Amino acid sequence: MKEFDLAIIGGGPAGYVAAVRASQLKMSVAIIEKRATLGGTCLNVGCIPSKALLDSSEHYESAHKRFAEHGIQAAEIKMDVAQMMKRKDKIVAEVCAGVDFLMKKNKVERFLGFGSLVSASEVKISNPSTGSGQAPADKSEQTIKAKKIIIATGSVPIELPTVPVDGKAIITSDHAIALTKVPKHMVVIGAGVIGLELGSVWRRLGSKVTVVEALPRLFGTADRQGSNLAQRILEQQGIEFLFEHKVEKAEAKGKGAVVTVKAPTGESKAIEADVVLCAIGRKPYLEGLGLDKVGVKLTERGRIDVDFHNWQTSVPGVYAIGDCINGPMLAHKAMEEGVAVVEVMAGQAGHVNYDVIPGVVYTHPEVAWVGLGEEELKEKGIEYNVGRSFFKPNGRAKAMMEGDGQLKILADKKTDRILGAFCVGAQAAQLIAELTLAMEFGASSEDVARTCHAHPTLSEIVKDAAESAGGWAIHQ
Ligand code: FAD
Ligand code: NAI
Repeated sequence: MKEFDLAIIGGGPAGYVAAVRASQLKMSVAIIEKRATLGGTCLNVGCIPSKALLDSSEHYESAHKRFAEHGIQAAEIKMDVAQMMKRKDKIVAEVCAGVDFLMKKNKVERFLGFGSLVSASEVKISNPSTGSGQAPADKSEQTIKAKKIIIATGSVPIELPTVPVDGKAIITSDHAIALTKVPKHMVVIGAGVIGLELGSVWRRLGSKVTVVEALPRLFGTADRQGSNLAQRILEQQGIEFLFEHKVEKAEAKGKGAVVTVKAPTGESKAIEADVVLCAIGRKPYLEGLGLDKVGVKLTERGRIDVDFHNWQTSVPGVYAIGDCINGPMLAHKAMEEGVAVVEVMAGQAGHVNYDVIPGVVYTHPEVAWVGLGEEELKEKGIEYNVGRSFFKPNGRAKAMMEGDGQLKILADKKTDRILGAFCVGAQAAQLIAELTLAMEFGASSEDVARTCHAHPTLSEIVKDAAESAGGWAIHQ
C-alpha cells in the first residue's frame, strides 16, 4: 500500500493549493480527484468559465452601446455563441493544465477517482463514477495510507424538489455556462452572485432576464445604499427583479418551462421561459465520503465541523477546508485555508483572517465589499465615520464612460481604523483590494488618504473616500 504524509480528497482551489504548500513544506502528498481535470468547481464550472463569458458578453454590449460614442464605427456586430464557448473552453483547459503542471512541478502524486475514508489514515480510491465532469469508469480500486488527510470536496448547487433540474429547460450554473444559443427569456431563481453574474451574461447577449428572489432586496445585510444602487443600475440595464416572490414550482413545457411564483400579495402567477436557472445557493458535497464511518461531525447546517485554528475535524488527523466547511463559499477563502492548514500541520503559524475576506459580484459595474457593513456595526454598537466618494467626478472614470458608482469606507470613530468598505462601480474588485490590504495592516482611513495615488486612476476614488472619512475630501 502506498504511504504519504498527506492525502487530500478534492483537487479544487482548497485542495490543490494545500497540496502545493505541503510539498513546499517537504511533505509527500497525494491528491485524489474524481474529475478528469484538476481545479474543482472554480476552474471547471465556476469562477473561470463564468468570467470568460462575462468578459465576452461585456465586449459585445460595449461594442453596441459605447463604440459609437468613442467614434468607433463597427457595422453589423453579431454574436457567435459557439465561438464564445470555444474561447471559454480553451481558457478552462489552459488553467486546468496549469494546475496539472503545478502538481508535477511539486511532485504531488495525482490519483484519478472517487476518494472515501476507510479510517483516519486510509483513503479508498474507486472509480465507479459516470456522468459529466466525472472520471471515466474503469472499476479499479486501491487504498492508500496517509499520516494526515484533508477533505476538500467542495460544493454542488442546491436544488429544489419542486424545480426538477433536467439540464435543458431547468438548469443550474453548470449548464448556464454552456448554453448553445441565447434564450429569449431566462428566469433566474435567486438574486445571488450566480443569478446576477450569469443573468448579466445572457441579458447582454439579448435574453430577457427575470430574477425571482425570496428576500426584499439584493445582497441580504450588505450596505443598503450600495445594494440599492446596484439594483437600480441592473434594472436600468434591463434585468427585471421580482423581490419577495416565492417559487412554487417549475415544470418543463414544450421547448421551455413554466415557473409558478407567489407574489407578496399571495397571488400566484405562471411565467413562461425558455430556460429557468436555479441559483439559490450551494451545499457541501459530502456524499459517499464515509464521514459517519470514521466519526467526522457536521455543523447544524450540514458542513464539516472544524476547529478554525487548525482546521482539524472531530477526528484527529482528519482536516477539512474550502466550501465543505463554514464560511463564505469563495475560491480565495478556500485557497487561504489550503495554505494555512498545512502550515499549522508543519508547526508554523498558519492563519486566515476571516474578518478581511473580500466579496465581489462581477456584474458591470462590479459590486465589491470587505469587512463590516453599517448594519453590522450598528448591531455591534461600534461608532463609525462614513467616507464616501463617487465615480462621476473622477476624470479617469469619465474618460472610461464609467460615471455610475460610489465607494464607501467605514472607519472607527475613535481610532479611525478602517472597519469595512463597499463599492459599486467599474473595477470595484480591484479598488476593494487596496482597502483589503489596508484592513489587513490595521490601517486608518487617514493612512489611505495620505498615500499618494497615481493620477488619473480609479484608485483616486479610494483616496477621495478616505479623505471624506476624515472630513476633508478635496474633490467633493
Ligand atoms: P471545489 O472547487 O468544489 O473542488 C472540490 C473538488 O473535489 C471538485 O473538483 C470535486 O470533483 C472533488 N471531489 C468531491 N468529492 C470527491 C471525492 N469524494 N473524491 C474525489 N474528488 C472529489 N468564487 C470566487 O471566489 N470567485 C468567483 O468569481 C466565483 N465564481 C463562481 C462562479 C460559479 C458559477 C460557481 C458555481 C462558483 C463560483 N465561485 C467563485 C465559488 C468557487 O468556485 C468555490 O468557492 C471554490 O471552487 C471552492 O473551492 P473548493 O476547493 O473548496 O471546492
Ligand atoms: P447565493 O447564496 O449568492 O444567492 C442565492 C439567492 O437565492 C439568495 O439571494 C437567496 O435569498 C435566494 N433564494 C434562496 N432560496 C430561494 C427560493 N426558493 N426562491 C427565491 N430565491 C431564493 O447563491 P448562488 O448565487 O447560488 O451562489 C452560490 C455560491 O457560489 C455563493 O455562496 C457564492 O459565494 C459562490 N459564487 C461566488 C461568486 C463570486 O465570488 N463572484 C460567483 C458565483 C458564485
